[in-house]
Parts: sequence; structure tokens; C-alpha cells
Amino acid sequence: MPSLLSAPYTHLAKAIRELEDAGVALFHYDVMDGHFVPNLTGGTNVIASLEPVLRGRLDVHLMVTNPGRVVPWFDFPSVRSITIHIEIQENLRRIFEHIRGLSKQAGVSLNPDTPVETLEPVLRDVDQVLVMTVHPGQGGQDLIPETLEKVRQLNRWRNERGFGYVIQVDGGIRADNIREVHEAGADEIVAGAAVFDHPDPPRAFQHLERLIREVSGSASLDENGR
Ligand code: DX5
Ligand code: ZN
Repeated sequence: MPSLLSAPYTHLAKAIRELEDAGVALFHYDVMDGHFVPNLTGGTNVIASLEPVLRGRLDVHLMVTNPGRVVPWFDFPSVRSITIHIEIQENLRRIFEHIRGLSKQAGVSLNPDTPVETLEPVLRDVDQVLVMTVHPGQGGQDLIPETLEKVRQLNRWRNERGFGYVIQVDGGIRADNIREVHEAGADEIVAGAAVFDHPDPPRAFQHLERLIREVSGSASLDENGR
């Protein structure tokens, strides 16, 4: 799914519409609070403006220190899912319940330096797990290869233990590594720079999707949209 972090904000609605026309049904939306990560992005004002024109849905990634307070602000019909970070010092289970109470899918994410075992206590409580394959904060970085082992482990756990979560990956995914990411077990793959830094974003998206299809016959860049 394309990450709007790298989208052209001078003509955002047009860029989104072109991608929707090319088959995109789900967009990743990064929220950064300048505290959990050293960057500030993704207010609700943008979602409110897009709401009347959006045909696809949004996958909201909260890189904030206080998601318990922030989650209710994202109760828009266009928001499909809300992901919070395992590293925050709050009662995660209560926040997942809150997200589900808004009829959204609840997700948990972990940074590259956080061991995957940290997630074990909450895996039963989430609909999706977002593996950060770069240090969060900005687009256009290189994927950290060791993080893919977490994707493989999460894939093994759900097979062995019957968990129902979707595995997402976020950061540094491009045409030259997307197959490996998909083969590791990722169901939904976020791509920012690989889509929007391309001169023709819809074509870039379709190319990435084709690369995945060649591996497995299933589309994973964008599976779960409206
Ligand atoms: C990074 C964000 C990502 C970002 C990925 O902190 O969470 O969603 O948009 O961008 P690329 O694909 O350019 O690494
Ligand atoms: Zn993200």
C-alpha cells in the first residue's frame, strides 16, 4: 500500500485519485508527534479534508507517545485500521479494545531494535502486526535486512499457534527487495518512496504489485481495502 508520507501535498487529492484508478484501495497514513520520533506529520485535518473525496481507506500508523489520548481523534469512516507501538508506556490492551470499539482493526508495531518476543503477550489481541524495517521517522531509508527475521518468526507463530493477525512491513521496500519481503511472510507491504518518488506513481505501484503476484499469485500491496 502506498504511504502518504511521501505523497505530493500540493496536489494530494489528485495523486490519490490516480492511484485509486490504478487499483489502490488502501493507503498508509503516518502520524508522528515529534516525541516518539524526531519528526512531526499526519494531523487529522488532512484526513478530514480527504474524507469526502477518498474512495480507498486509510491504515493509520501512530508513532506517538500517548496513543490512548490520540486514538479517538482518528474515528473517521475512511480509517480502516489503527496501529500503535509496543514501545509506549501505556496499557496497550485497553487501547486495542478502544480501537475495536470504533469498529477499526487494531494493530501493534515494533521498532527495529525491539525484540519480536516483546509482542508475544499481545498477539492474541491484535488484527495486524506492523514490522518496522527502518527506524521510524522518515521515508526513503534503506531496509534493515535483519528485521525480516521478525516477519518470518511472526509468520511461524501464527501458523503454529493459530493467530489471526495480518503481517505488515514498513520502510525501505522497493522493487529490488519486495519479493524477499513477501516471501518472508508479509501480507501487506507499505511503500512510500518506491511509489511517490517514481515519475509515474500508479505505474510504480502496479509494477510492485506484479512482482508480488509473480511470487505467489496473491496481491499483497493492497489486500484489504474498502
Ligand atoms: C517511516 C514510516 C513509513 C514511511 C515508509 O517512519 O512509518 O510509513 O512512509 O517510507 P519508505 O517506503 O519510503 O521507506
Ligand atoms: Zn508507517
